[in-house]
Amino acid sequence: MSKILIVEDDRNTLSGLVEILGEEGYEVEGVETSKKALKSLQKETFDILLTDLRMPDMNGMQLFERSLTIAPEMKTIVMTAYSSVKDAVEAMKKGVYEYLTKPLDLDELFVIIEKALGEQELQRENVELRKQVKSTYSFQNIIGKSAPMQQIFSTIVKVAKTQSTVLIRGESGTGKELVARAIHYNSPRSNKPLVEISCASFPESLLESELFGYEKGAFTGADSRKKGRFELANEGTIFLDEIGDITESVQTKLLRVLQERQITRLGGTETIDVDVRVITATNRDLEQAMDERKFRDDLFYRLNVIPITLPPLRERIEDIPLLIEHFMKKYSVQNKIPTPSLSAEALEVCMNYSWPGNVRELENAIESAIVLGEGSTILPEHIPLGGRRKALGANKVDFLKNSGETFKDKIEAVERLILQDAIEQASGNKSEAAKVLDISLRTMRYKIKKYGL
Ligand SMILES: Nc1ncnc2c1ncn2[C@@H]1O[C@H](COP(=O)(O)OP(=O)(O)OP(=O)(O)O)[C@@H](O)[C@H]1O
Ligand SMILES: [Mg+2]
Repeated sequence: MSKILIVEDDRNTLSGLVEILGEEGYEVEGVETSKKALKSLQKETFDILLTDLRMPDMNGMQLFERSLTIAPEMKTIVMTAYSSVKDAVEAMKKGVYEYLTKPLDLDELFVIIEKALGEQELQRENVELRKQVKSTYSFQNIIGKSAPMQQIFSTIVKVAKTQSTVLIRGESGTGKELVARAIHYNSPRSNKPLVEISCASFPESLLESELFGYEKGAFTGADSRKKGRFELANEGTIFLDEIGDITESVQTKLLRVLQERQITRLGGTETIDVDVRVITATNRDLEQAMDERKFRDDLFYRLNVIPITLPPLRERIEDIPLLIEHFMKKYSVQNKIPTPSLSAEALEVCMNYSWPGNVRELENAIESAIVLGEGSTILPEHIPLGGRRKALGANKVDFLKNSGETFKDKIEAVERLILQDAIEQASGNKSEAAKVLDISLRTMRYKIKKYGL
């Protein structure tokens, strides 16, 4: 419940305000002097200070200035007689949130209080968001607060300590490369090489010589001996990306390396021991490839010792705000422009889009928004979306799946969707939307604020 401290030297006005705001559902405390107000501020945290401007002992402005060191987040609203509006305007320049002239218009008072509370909540969320990005919601540049990502962070930490082979799976752009690197750099091999190779970018014969190396004269053009990536990765880690794209011949050779931990260079006879930790990744359906006899089962089992599957972004939309914040910072620093803010509408668009290209697509969209937005607030039109925007509610989570949310979280997610639909149906008109749902406008406003709709 939001807490309001009222300071007013006129007893009648004070008790009237305490009563009315109490009835509105706020927790209210009323005092007659600034001195008493300061005492209360030291004892408790208030969200709003509603103070008279002219008072005998210490005036409202002095009280406000003192309050800044005690309760910097509190919003102050001053009340003043019409004759001293000039002072009130001065007060706003110094950081007072709003002023109201006496006699008070109660509707205006309610609106301003709600507005102040809304802004305050937003500021608190932003502060919270920044703290979170810095601590547990990021691991080696991988951002994620959702339950599946938190799970992946802990898997990485555990797996990194071992020598086990890891198979990372997930749609394109979900962060497979990032995970592979995080494993290597958290492992005992972190100061040895991490050798990465994307298997899809080489034709078969070239891939073999890249992986295993060749002896002089192994084929035309092989005019000197060349070490392969396995040898280069000795004592370190090799990351074979796009492993689902290798041909049968390479599959067979790879299987042998994994079994024997030895390689033979192309055109050579000597076997060379290699001590390499193997991490592979793919966005392909390897089970299907095995069914179609395009991928060897025995190789799959060798690779799939520890599987890590990255969920698509649309299944962890609670990560979207953090990712956006991360990329906004990254690209504004890179482009040497101040970090812009994100409009609620732009966030909404991002939350409702399906992101078929996953985090990569989101990253590109934010980079482009930063550049096109030129440092001002990011609006929906700054965000390029590849596909069609998804219909509202399309991101419905599977509510029975246990993905770490509490029952309350799930109910709230449903409530949010219902509200969104109603607002959409009423073309954004809040009182219309309230009518559609048969709830009061006050409740509607409260919920809109709560869910940031
Ligand atoms: N959780 C995340 N936090 C921060 N950045 C991320 C995250 N996931 C992905 N990215 C960024 O998105 C981009 C794509 O990630 P990455 O290259 O790891 O994807 P991938 O799964 O390997 O995709 P592909 O299958 O297309 O190769 C990179 O720029 C990466 O930094
Ligand atoms: Mg990749």
